[in-house]
Amino acid sequence: MSWPDTTTRTAELLELERRYCSFGDTVHYLNPPKVFSNCEGCYLYDEQGTPYLDLQMWYSAANFGYKNPRLNEALKRQVDRLPQLACQYLHAEKIEVAARIAQYCEKRFGVKGRVHFNVGGSQAIEDSLKLVRNATGKNLMFAFMGSYHGRTLGATAITSSYRYRRRFGNFSDRAQFVFFPYCHRCIYGLKPETCNLYCEEQFEKLFDSEYFGVWDAKAGASEFGAFYIEAVQGTGGYVIPPRDYFKRLKETCDRHKILIVDDEIQMGFYRTGKFWAIENFGIAPDIIVFGKALTNGLNPISGLWAREDLITPEVFPPGSTHSTFSANTLGTAVALETLKMLEEEDYETLVNEKGAYFLAGLRELERRHRDSIGQVDGLGLALRIEVSKPDRMTPDRELTDRIFAEGLAGNLEVRGRRMGLVLDVGGYYKNVFTLAPSFTITREEIDLAIELLDQLFTRCKK
Ligand SMILES: Cc1ncc(COP(=O)(O)O)c(C=O)c1O
Repeated sequence: MSWPDTTTRTAELLELERRYCSFGDTVHYLNPPKVFSNCEGCYLYDEQGTPYLDLQMWYSAANFGYKNPRLNEALKRQVDRLPQLACQYLHAEKIEVAARIAQYCEKRFGVKGRVHFNVGGSQAIEDSLKLVRNATGKNLMFAFMGSYHGRTLGATAITSSYRYRRRFGNFSDRAQFVFFPYCHRCIYGLKPETCNLYCEEQFEKLFDSEYFGVWDAKAGASEFGAFYIEAVQGTGGYVIPPRDYFKRLKETCDRHKILIVDDEIQMGFYRTGKFWAIENFGIAPDIIVFGKALTNGLNPISGLWAREDLITPEVFPPGSTHSTFSANTLGTAVALETLKMLEEEDYETLVNEKGAYFLAGLRELERRHRDSIGQVDGLGLALRIEVSKPDRMTPDRELTDRIFAEGLAGNLEVRGRRMGLVLDVGGYYKNVFTLAPSFTITREEIDLAIELLDQLFTRCKK
């Protein structure tokens, strides 16, 4: 197809979108938004066939590369065998996926449990809220500032940003939000080397007196059922806490009979170099919620794992939650293949090696652009670039937006090739590039990513 044709086609599509699509279900970071029409490996392609190196992989849902041949094949096989089945009936893949995840958790944490399915991440968060309410009799939850748990009503109530709630009336069970250990911007102005986890100490203090509003010492009861955590904050800007933080938090929660619900929707399935991100921090959660990468972005499946006593059918009976498409046959077939793949290959080494190489490149980038990069960091292939003013602390949102838009303009020149770069912006001040590259990324592609970022910073600082 010739250039004018595709350009006209893109213009027509954008006009139809402007007229007929709700904007409420999307995020228009760019005006006009970008139209893509093909993908492969680490790349997206626009209507003109220009390649864009993708460093965000659908918010970490397509960890194993676009059109991953093994996972696509699993989907195609299931399309030809058992593509549809009401979820009141059983099929082998659902049971095998549940068994593998439960067996993994038992091996890792020494705790028996069960797995429960739904379709999207937010729905699985809703299910976990029901599980906590059912087990503890409490409606109230703790969650972190900077947290993101989804956009359904219940998930929004425990998501920190007021912007997501502002238009939608009263959220009576809104979480009590607690400072996350975001050491680069420590709220208390302390340094992680010497703070002795002061922020956790402040949380612990809430239980000193009934007048601090969370604990009745006479009854030995907290008003709160669970603490929702992301081991590494996702939308919050890939913020990595100190290694011992969660051990201390778990001790405090255990002492006060508060469950830990670990939201692994974005960081699960090796994004941080471990099957679950929480494994980097040495605690066993009571409930784990997962989604996204389990099916590499093909037919969605989400779900949760919970300790046996919380989820045994005697206490959480059939029909406690239900969705027509939960545990759908196409999704569970891909999920099973993903889990087999994770068992057969050493993803821990692969992700950590690639992550270390990428982070070294980012540190070099930071040295070259000290006037606009305040910090880079990473755990596995969850990497971050904090864009700041020359004082290296004041967030530079304008520069972040310019770089983001320029990457999507698709007119960078590298080694005689015209291409673009797909980034995602997160963070409390929307000045963080949250990088979640494909696990299939090669060293050459990592070098290319650094070169493209270097060009973008140089070009956009002017
Ligand atoms: C940590 C976390 N929890 C929950 C969600 C919500 O999942 P979904 O968008 O599939 O509803 C997301 C999505 O980005 C997430 O990153």
